[in-house]
Amino acid sequence: MSAPSARKTDHPILPLFVERWSPRAFTGETIPDTVLASLFEAARWAPSAYNSQPWRFVWAKAGTPEWGPLFGLLNEFNQGWARSASAIVLVLSKSTFRAAPDAPEQAAGHHAFDTGAAWVSLALQAHALGWSAHAAAGFDADRARSEFALPADVHPQAVVVIGRAGDPASLPDALRARETPNGRRPVTETAFHGRYPA
Ligand SMILES: Cc1cc2nc3c(=O)[nH]c(=O)nc-3n(C[C@H](O)[C@H](O)[C@H](O)COP(=O)(O)O)c2cc1C
Repeated sequence: MSAPSARKTDHPILPLFVERWSPRAFTGETIPDTVLASLFEAARWAPSAYNSQPWRFVWAKAGTPEWGPLFGLLNEFNQGWARSASAIVLVLSKSTFRAAPDAPEQAAGHHAFDTGAAWVSLALQAHALGWSAHAAAGFDADRARSEFALPADVHPQAVVVIGRAGDPASLPDALRARETPNGRRPVTETAFHGRYPA
């Protein structure tokens, strides 16, 4: 289901930047493994400091035994809409890396920044294939750490819920009213020429 196109840009950009959005109503249909592989492939090619590629993903498809432990990380609000999704991904970042196979481990100071780039690549690829990826920070990171036995240098960043956008009528009233692409503040309030505003 395509979203109403309420988004207008002030400057020309590639359409996918405004066409991508984060729905909460999903069809619940099965997502092909080939689609998931393409999403992770897109994330793979994100830029990162020292090409350290600090992003890691733990994923599951709906209806499989692996779904429950990932879905259970989400808070109650997010579980409410994510239950009709097709796949779920725990996004992790690794805060150490080796510059070469025989080099010592060193801090990856930009692990969160770089993992953000990878998630956006995944989301844009999902959109390009007719799917949607909705990030959620409303999840239990401590539980993720213990349930997935994460090493100390691997950090839960978000849970990404993937599905094909569905009928907003399937949502409760409050969410149905919000089930449309939102806006952004103007570029003039974000990008400053030469100095940060007082
Ligand atoms: C890191 C991150 C955390 C988010 N957490 C939640 C969340 O817990 N629940 C939710 O419904 N949406 C969540 N969102 C979705 C945002 O609300 C959404 O991306 C934002 O409103 C912009 O809308 P758009 O993605 O449709 O363009 C999150 C998005 C990001 C990037």
